[in-house]
Amino acid sequence: MISFVWAEDENRVIGKDDTLPWKLPDDMKRFKEVTTGNPIIMGRKTFESFPNGPLPNRENIVITRNKNFSYPGVTVVNAISDIQMDTQKNYCVIGGAQIFELFKDLVDRLYVTKIHHEFSGDVLMIDLPWENFKLVSSEEGKVDEKNLWPHTFEVYDRK
Ligand SMILES: NC(=O)c1ccc[n+]([C@@H]2O[C@H](COP(=O)([O-])OP(=O)(O)OC[C@H]3O[C@@H](n4cnc5c(N)ncnc54)[C@H](OP(=O)(O)O)[C@@H]3O)[C@@H](O)[C@H]2O)c1
Repeated sequence: MISFVWAEDENRVIGKDDTLPWKLPDDMKRFKEVTTGNPIIMGRKTFESFPNGPLPNRENIVITRNKNFSYPGVTVVNAISDIQMDTQKNYCVIGGAQIFELFKDLVDRLYVTKIHHEFSGDVLMIDLPWENFKLVSSEEGKVDEKNLWPHTFEVYDRK
């Protein structure tokens, strides 16, 4: 199956200056819980936003048009048809917007963190056919001195 995992603000902002517009450790924790053990699929820009290279304990699959791109520990593909999908696995598409667009007709499950705040940014989440999805869980995130903005973890499954 294919899942999307992302966080967006009240205006669907997801990125700014090739990085995240916010620091929200509670969402990072959630991201780790959802994705660890699963292959993660991302665009080259999102991959390059990671400070320490590939994320551990997950197969990292990076999509680029650059035929010469390589990075230790990373599976590089030039098109989604190059990904050898194993039907037993949960492929987590983790962005950014260009890569969500490529998978939007294929995705089975959505893990979205809704951050109840407005940030400035330059990348928005794509339009999804929400009428084809149903909410299956909703959970409030933790707010404290390290997690300043209220946020909700929602999961949707394709109907
Ligand atoms: N809030 C969140 O949950 C979240 C999640 C992920 C990312 N982000 C943010 O989103 C921003 C990045 O998103 P983005 O949409 O600009 O970039 P992206 O999707 O991460 O990467 C774009 C790159 O993917 C490759 N690509 C795109 N379409 C392709 C295709 N059809 N075939 C082959 N390769 C293709 C190209 O790489 P080449 O240029 O190398 O060819 C392109 O430049 C950053 O600010 C990041 O921090 C936020």
